[in-house]
Amino acid sequence: MGSLAGQKVVVIGGTSGIGLATATAALGEGASVWAVSRSEDKVAQCQSEYPDIQFGRLDIHDTSGLDKLFASVGNIDHIVANATGANRTNAPFMEQTDEQFRAAFEKFWGYTNVARQGIPHLRPTGSLTFVSGFPARKCNVGMSSISCTGCAVEGLTRALALEVAPIRVNVVAPGIIDTAAFAALGENRDQVLDQIGQSIPLGRVGQSEEVASSIMHAMQNTYMSGATLDVGGGNLLP
Ligand SMILES: NC(=O)c1ccc[n+]([C@@H]2O[C@H](COP(=O)([O-])OP(=O)(O)OC[C@H]3O[C@@H](n4cnc5c(N)ncnc54)[C@H](OP(=O)(O)O)[C@@H]3O)[C@@H](O)[C@H]2O)c1
Repeated sequence: MGSLAGQKVVVIGGTSGIGLATATAALGEGASVWAVSRSEDKVAQCQSEYPDIQFGRLDIHDTSGLDKLFASVGNIDHIVANATGANRTNAPFMEQTDEQFRAAFEKFWGYTNVARQGIPHLRPTGSLTFVSGFPARKCNVGMSSISCTGCAVEGLTRALALEVAPIRVNVVAPGIIDTAAFAALGENRDQVLDQIGQSIPLGRVGQSEEVASSIMHAMQNTYMSGATLDVGGGNLLP
């Protein structure tokens, strides 16, 4: 397993939840870490909490911003594409407008931006890890757009793993993870997550650090490429 000591890691969508947990885990393994997202507040808060990580503001849809970031870091060892990057509508396909359905794919286009701009700056021993999600392979009612987007991310992972080898490309697919993604539930948040947890074989929802652990594995396992790592407490089981 490759050590991250002295390596350069860039996390796109790295100021909250799974991305922030990945940035701090990589720092803990001795990497130099850059982490970006859109919100000025999140960037400022993270920078004061984790002064050894270089945080910055960047939207995953800003291709020239991505190019500048990757070029300024240079000779990158690992890139993680984690940003949500899209407004998603949870509703059955026939109840969504075409615009709503297509909007979910903004996440995928964000990831293609990261691949196009980032791969030229990756070292041949490096890796690109995408963060997708369980709906790609377990689609509940109302998840069609998220599911299709996840399938596209997994397909891109396998295609790129062939095309850009020896650079390794993998995807980590979280199950239900307790992050700010559920902030819209307001005061019911904990109760709803507890209820969801009861339907999962491990009896609980996951934590960001548990997904970050698999992203770290994707960076560090020097013989893994084109793989999908599921971190869902067994939620894909029938
Ligand atoms: N939590 C779950 O249950 C779950 C399940 C399946 C998949 N996932 C996936 O896991 C990934 C991480 O989600 P999370 O749960 O950790 O959510 P989160 O806590 O909301 O974190 C999302 C991160 O992405 C950044 N971001 C969002 N849109 C961006 C954009 N356009 N450009 C740059 N950065 C952007 C956010 O910061 P800003 O707002 O400042 O941009 C934040 O740093 C996402 O790809 C999500 O789809 C999560």
